[in-house]
Amino acid sequence: MATDRSAELFQRARRVSPGGVNSPVRAFKAVGGTPRFMTSGEGAWLTDADGNRYVDFVGSWGPMLLGHAHPQVVSAVQEAVARGTSFGTPAEPEVALAEEIVERTSVESVRLVTSGTEATMSALRLARGVTGRDRVVKFAGCYHGHVDSLLAEAGSGVVTLGIPGTPGVPAHVTADTIVLPYNDVDAVEAAFAEFGGEIACVITEAAPGNMGLVPPAPGFNAALARIASEHGALFISDEVMTGFRAARSGHWELDGQREGWAPDLVTFGKVMGGGFPSAAFGGRRDLMEHLAPAGPVYQAGTLAGNPVATTAGLTTLRLATPDLYTDLLATSLRVRDLVGEALLGAGVPHVIQAAGTMFSVMWGVTDPVTDFAGAQRQDTAAFAAFFSSMLEQGVYLPPSAFETWFVSAAHDDAALTTLSEALPAAAHAAARALDDRP
Ligand SMILES: Cc1ncc(COP(=O)(O)O)c(C=O)c1O
Repeated sequence: MATDRSAELFQRARRVSPGGVNSPVRAFKAVGGTPRFMTSGEGAWLTDADGNRYVDFVGSWGPMLLGHAHPQVVSAVQEAVARGTSFGTPAEPEVALAEEIVERTSVESVRLVTSGTEATMSALRLARGVTGRDRVVKFAGCYHGHVDSLLAEAGSGVVTLGIPGTPGVPAHVTADTIVLPYNDVDAVEAAFAEFGGEIACVITEAAPGNMGLVPPAPGFNAALARIASEHGALFISDEVMTGFRAARSGHWELDGQREGWAPDLVTFGKVMGGGFPSAAFGGRRDLMEHLAPAGPVYQAGTLAGNPVATTAGLTTLRLATPDLYTDLLATSLRVRDLVGEALLGAGVPHVIQAAGTMFSVMWGVTDPVTDFAGAQRQDTAAFAAFFSSMLEQGVYLPPSAFETWFVSAAHDDAALTTLSEALPAAAHAAARALDDRP
């Protein structure tokens, strides 16, 4: 597979951008090789600068629920662009998007922002503003964007690149962050027993997808909601990745809605932007009313609720019907089966873990992974060998063992045929990497 043009672009990029990328994992550091510079996407397929085509299982890290360049999204966006790209005033699409989010999820009121990082950062500020407390509980392996106080023991690029902590974050900023092992209710109880009166909130990914997919144990999220409430703290569920993706409303549909509890605050992003920079945080009305201009907690954004981004998101969500999620889950199950069969066939120890339509493979382990320590026991060399072989055969996977695979509604038989034809060789490459271990 020729990659000259991508290599050339990467060289140019490195001259003008740190590491040649605008988000670290894109640089392929964990898997080696040349990052592919994409020029177009259509449905389940991406085309790179050298004209190579790939079945895409990254989906822009989650947003592309409908596949790339969905005709209805494209035409809605074209119409919106023609009406003007930003007004800096209220406009109807942002109201309609907020209504759609409120209708689908547990939140009563929502504020639109431009990135998932901004959503979690703002939710944290609101929780601290409402409670008058400073401490925050988070879980090792969860990634909530690059918010200073939440980068401690984070997943995603922080673990992919093996960055132990992040220079530039003052010690006093993380001094109020309590990091606990995921899925460990006793640790949460103990932290609240010691610091209860000082804890503003507990924040967690609704189903962590940034240390690979590690689903919450049954009742874990409910326990967080209960413990936070018992101590006058808030429970923030980060659905930036899972929202409108794991299921129609997000992961909450798979636990809270069934069990009869709701988070105090929720963050969203990715799918709700339809591929544009758009995100949100929301929650109970009485809490959200603490935000300016209704209340004293300040938060603002020049491009928040941008008319083009909100049109893309709204069009995407309206096309994301219950039937679409049924089909998406079926596709996700088929992909998992194909991957599992190939790995078994090649004798590669692995566990496939899932939350709704989202899943990932834990490499070189034999028992389900329940926390960050378990996820870090993966054999990343086996994954790197698998990844490179799949890429060469036209399948684009997340370039890290610590990320979730994303399917879209556009993954049809042709896409799955390409996947299944590529799998045996890649699985054997992973097996060889395991055999070559010192
Ligand atoms: C759960 C979660 N929260 C927050 C973020 C940050 O979102 P963004 O990259 O849009 O800032 C991410 C990004 O992957 C995420 O997965």
